[in-house]
Amino acid sequence: MTRKHVGLVKKTWPELEGRELEKEISRLLAGVEITRTLKDLARLRVEASYHRCDVTDQHQVSRVLEQVVSRYGRIDGIIHGAGMIRDSFMELMSAPDFTDVMDVKLLGGWNLYRHSLPHGLRFIVGLSSVVAVTGNMGQVNYCAANRALAAFLRTLSPGKGRILSKALMLPPIEGAAWQTSRR
Ligand SMILES: NC(=O)c1ccc[n+]([C@@H]2O[C@H](COP(=O)([O-])OP(=O)(O)OC[C@H]3O[C@@H](n4cnc5c(N)ncnc54)[C@H](OP(=O)(O)O)[C@@H]3O)[C@@H](O)[C@H]2O)c1
Repeated sequence: MTRKHVGLVKKTWPELEGRELEKEISRLLAGVEITRTLKDLARLRVEASYHRCDVTDQHQVSRVLEQVVSRYGRIDGIIHGAGMIRDSFMELMSAPDFTDVMDVKLLGGWNLYRHSLPHGLRFIVGLSSVVAVTGNMGQVNYCAANRALAAFLRTLSPGKGRILSKALMLPPIEGAAWQTSRR
């Protein structure tokens, strides 16, 4: 976040302060990154479009997937990368801190799977984490969510149908800035 970004946002929304100001700047920077990525893909002659929804809301997921199908005809695969952290010591963690983090991974994966299945789904990949196996202090919710996602995807593996599925147990990625809540 640079001084220029802060200045621009402050000028447009002078009432924003502190956390709200940071959130607005992050939102704008994310928008710039999305536009840049779509332009890079277009330059490589890859047709891509960007749709946004809350993966924990089955109606939003269904609506967005219908839009994708109406544009591209079918859905071959899903890469489920949505996630959030709400770190806290176990003794201090609230029930929503646990279920919100869990829902994005597990319910999100289930919604994406369920609503893309009738449209020709052939593979589904989930971005899980190595902490699903090792555990990590202050991340019981995130560890459980990633483990549950991996277990869910495993139940879809070959032999039980035509869907290929894989959970990627990713290590920490340098330079990735984690967000604590959905913008
Ligand atoms: N970064 C790492 O070191 C690391 C390591 C292991 C695994 N992973 C996994 O890799 C994935 C991506 O991580 P990242 O570092 O790129 O994190 P990130 O930049 O924070 O991206 C997380 C994404 O999840 C989206 N999201 C959160 N809640 C959502 C919801 N309810 N519905 C739809 N989208 C939602 C966010 O969308 P909005 O911005 O629109 O809210 C954001 O684009 C995560 O699943 C994470 O668990 C990351």
